[in-house]
Amino acid sequence: MSTIQSNSKIGIGILGVGNIAELCSKGYLQDDRCKVVAVCDVNEDKAKRKAEKWGIKQVYTDIDEFLNDSSIDAVEILTPTHMHKNHVAAAASAKKHISCQKPIATSIPDSIDMIQAAREVDVTFRINECFYHFPPLVEARNLIQQGKIGIPQQIRIHTLVGQTDSDFQVGMDPDGYGWRFSDASPGGHIFDDMVHKIAISQWLVGQKIVSLKSSVRRQHTFFEPFVSLLEYEDGNLLGILDSVYGHNLWMNSSYYGADEFVEITGDEGFIWVTRCTGELLDFPPLSIFEGDKDKRAFKHIDTINADWGAGFELSSKHFLDSLIDESILPEMTPDDATNVLQICFGIYQAAVTGNSVDPRTIDNFVISPGGYP
Ligand SMILES: NC(=O)c1ccc[n+]([C@@H]2O[C@H](COP(=O)([O-])OP(=O)(O)OC[C@H]3O[C@@H](n4cnc5c(N)ncnc54)[C@H](O)[C@@H]3O)[C@@H](O)[C@H]2O)c1
Repeated sequence: MSTIQSNSKIGIGILGVGNIAELCSKGYLQDDRCKVVAVCDVNEDKAKRKAEKWGIKQVYTDIDEFLNDSSIDAVEILTPTHMHKNHVAAAASAKKHISCQKPIATSIPDSIDMIQAAREVDVTFRINECFYHFPPLVEARNLIQQGKIGIPQQIRIHTLVGQTDSDFQVGMDPDGYGWRFSDASPGGHIFDDMVHKIAISQWLVGQKIVSLKSSVRRQHTFFEPFVSLLEYEDGNLLGILDSVYGHNLWMNSSYYGADEFVEITGDEGFIWVTRCTGELLDFPPLSIFEGDKDKRAFKHIDTINADWGAGFELSSKHFLDSLIDESILPEMTPDDATNVLQICFGIYQAAVTGNSVDPRTIDNFVISPGGYP
């Protein structure tokens, strides 16, 4: 994969300046190794407002003109998910390095086409997965890799979605929900948000899911309370992934009204991670119990930056690292993201058929059991 050799700053172009653009751009705006040189959005007002706020002179409303800008080396694609395929293909044919938001696409053939388009022109293509850079999760993964809890036996990831009145939530542009609540999206909350939790359910333990079962419900148009039982390559490792929606449950959060509870148990101890989005519990983000015969110690690790926004900033930094140093592979490869999408569709398929699914066999797309959101 080609890297950027030049001694000058990496030129970043931001495509789509909607609800998530502020968090996704902050890391680039603060990093001396790059310069955000242009923004592009079909909504000219929005594009101009963001450009002014971020001190960027060049504003485009047309993607072809944007991609023709030779000062742009790499693009951050923040457009609605169903547009990722065309936008990644266009960026690849303009030979720009690409970071694209999750989920990678709305079908597996689209993901494969995107990977192929980037490979043909030898540009870096990664999916921006902020959970892979959220410091408490990164540290939990390090501790697991260091053998601090022995051999992982079980992983449980519980997501609680409720309400919040954070400035972030209140400031959301309702236009950002339109495409999520339509047949442009094959699913609701599992497709849009749980893909983060699907991703970490493999990444934390370094194991692929080979079989899953699930039950999925639909509530309030978008939400999909569900429970999924996971089997991994190592037959001893089992997982439970679930989410529940509390329509009248208000929680503290600086961002969305959601929080996560992650528990990984090994044959020598366990790790807890929480506060991955909101701040529901006044509880340290990371705790470990080492059940060593002589130790039997429970330790809270509360010095880690557990602000959800930190994952976005560190993710931007990591993309720059990978553009400068070819030995640094992007943490979420598009193949990894495609496998995450297969698991998402596998959860829908298992709920519809009532049978176990090997997600690696999913080769197209599956619509949520509740139909389109
Ligand atoms: N990592 C996370 O936690 C996270 C959180 C929210 C959203 N996302 C992802 O980010 C992406 C964007 O989500 P959002 O909530 O910001 O959506 P949004 O609808 O608020 O923003 C999308 C922006 O793209 C613009 N746009 C649409 N078509 C365009 C085109 N052809 N050319 C240029 N601009 C165009 C829209 O005008 C809008 O400003 C989605 O893929 C979503 O899944 C990720």
